[in-house]
Amino acid sequence: MAEQSSHPLRRPLPDGIVPEDVVARTENRWVIIMAAMLVFMLAIVVLTGITDSMHPSSNVEVVDPTTLHLQGEFVESNLGTAVEPDGSVTVRMIAEQYEFVPRCVQVPAGTAVTFRLTSADVVHGFLLPDTNVNTMVVPGFVAEVRTRFAKEGEYAMPCHEFCGLGHHAMWAHVRVVPKSQFADPAAAERMNCATQ
Ligand code: CUA
Repeated sequence: MAEQSSHPLRRPLPDGIVPEDVVARTENRWVIIMAAMLVFMLAIVVLTGITDSMHPSSNVEVVDPTTLHLQGEFVESNLGTAVEPDGSVTVRMIAEQYEFVPRCVQVPAGTAVTFRLTSADVVHGFLLPDTNVNTMVVPGFVAEVRTRFAKEGEYAMPCHEFCGLGHHAMWAHVRVVPKSQFADPAAAERMNCATQ
């Protein structure tokens, strides 16, 4: 008992110090609450990954960011929406401080769409709210995301990776139109919202 009263945490309550067993109980409770929160958040990540196809871009494809405008897949004339022989569409865009090129792309609803983006400078973000599209656009790599739009409409496409002072103003749009309104699949030219 003598040892107990000399220890500050073991002194009885009247002097205002909380007893050791109360402290231990409170700490245990918080550990359990913290562990439960971690399990809950991890479960959300796993569940949305399975049910909404939310996952990081898994393809590792490299591209030289210093020659994007000169040669290869991301030259200006090849940007925008392209119709593939199988009827699906591929959208190619470049992200750069502080815009996406093109600023608006048009795609048909109910069709397989493959987005291929790369960055000309720093890391940007590619997000289409209410869809499974959410990835980083890293210079030197091609970010490829596949999706299919069930609903028509205008989808806002904000850059969601801080990329500099103009980050908040970096937006593009994806316009999803009915399949019947989509331009001639035989069109050889790349399309954006302005050319359709
Ligand atoms: Cu681009 Cu933020």
